[in-house]
Amino acid sequence: MGNKTFTITDNETGKRIELPALKDGQGIPAIDISTLYRDHGYLTFDPGFQSTASCRSGITFIDGDKGILRYRGYPIEQLAESSSFLEVSYLLMNGELPGKEKLDDFVSMISRHTMLKESLRTFYKGFYHDAHPMASMVGVVGSLSAFYHDSTDVHDPRHRVIAAHRMLAKMPTIAAACYKYSIGEPFIYPKNSLSYCGNLLHMMFSVPSEDYVVDPVAEKALDMIFILHADHEQNASTATVRLSGSSGSNPFACISSGITALWGPAHGGANEAVLHMLNEIGDTSNIAKYIAKAKDKDDPFRLMGFGHRVYKNHDPRATIIRKMCYEVLEKFGDPNDPMFELAMGLEEIALKDDYFIEKKLYPNVDFYSGIIYKALGIPTNMFTVMFAVARTVGWVSQWMEMISEPGQRIGRPRQMYVGKDVRDYVPVEKR
Ligand code: SDX
Repeated sequence: MGNKTFTITDNETGKRIELPALKDGQGIPAIDISTLYRDHGYLTFDPGFQSTASCRSGITFIDGDKGILRYRGYPIEQLAESSSFLEVSYLLMNGELPGKEKLDDFVSMISRHTMLKESLRTFYKGFYHDAHPMASMVGVVGSLSAFYHDSTDVHDPRHRVIAAHRMLAKMPTIAAACYKYSIGEPFIYPKNSLSYCGNLLHMMFSVPSEDYVVDPVAEKALDMIFILHADHEQNASTATVRLSGSSGSNPFACISSGITALWGPAHGGANEAVLHMLNEIGDTSNIAKYIAKAKDKDDPFRLMGFGHRVYKNHDPRATIIRKMCYEVLEKFGDPNDPMFELAMGLEEIALKDDYFIEKKLYPNVDFYSGIIYKALGIPTNMFTVMFAVARTVGWVSQWMEMISEPGQRIGRPRQMYVGKDVRDYVPVEKR
């Protein structure tokens, strides 16, 4: 922004601090405070990072007020309509849409890296039989660096690409094995002849004792849901991946940290929490009671699947996925499914309620994704696992962008210390 600056004045001492303005690209204008502590001895305070840009990124653009989401400049609506998850994955990782030959090579290469080391399969046996699939996914992904020493030098661009491709290729196999282990069924090997999402459905739902045919409607629905969940700028899990990556941790460990952050019900765990909430509400006669609970400051209950830190208008992904809900239920479920009927009733009432309107709490992508997963026969405890599979390409793309940034440094926030002042140790006999 040329020489534009912002001035902060200490109204007690009159001291004035000038800070440079930043306006890179189409993003929100920023004030560069990176030298504030070094030059002036002040920190800024922003718990939850509501007003903090932690990095520069060219991967995903969100305008929360206008409900805009673009991957590398392409509107999410066009990608959801016309692209495929692996083509979008190539775009996110490389910055450009691939030509046919490059896309074919990429798809073929990912397909050929879907297998896990056989000894990795024994890891699952160590988990208790009723382990939550997200718990086993965190453990297994974190262990990958024990198997792939040849792609953990984060400063070698070739290693970074190999590790990224391995993560993208193996997550469906890991996810399906988490599911199979949780239901006590044998693991199913990937089939390279199937599409990315077709393979995931095959590894989840086929059994050795009979043939399984991937349903094209389910395959297309899953592919589109994965496109919608692929990346979302600096959300909690992506910020976690960047922070753990900033210390030079290997990519497998970084992705495992992202999975743990995603698990929370305020983030990727919301899709599972939506179904639990709908089960708790039970039927449309209880909606008013739960809307009142969500509005009650003294009640910790929140309407899961509503609200968003960035979208203060509709979540463009929710608009796309809501339409798909009907198509999937037409094919697989009962459009009068009481769960769906309850969800639509809740959505209708909440959207008219002054509290939700005033606080700009609209349904987000997680409000609808769980309903579709349920119609596809995916159990509730696998919803966030599916989100993790889709978001892996966003995590690895953001990690690669961060680690290859010139002058990349470890992330190390400071704090406002509110604890005890200095005091002397007291021997236990005198306490
Ligand atoms: C995802 O960041 C991303 O991009 C995430 C994500 C991605 O793709 O990576 O989009 C995926 O995580 C979507 C969000 C899924 N989470 C949920 O659906 C859980 C329910 N939503 C809330 O927990 C909440 O809305 C958040 C966490 C999503 C956003 O929280 P914020 O931005 O910190 O908002 P807030 O908690 O400060 O709430 C603002 C006000 C509060 O009231 P006041 O204190 O101002 O009086 O709105 C209220 C909140 O009490 N509020 C809700 C509410 N969400 C916010 N009240 C009832 N129900 C809700 N769902």
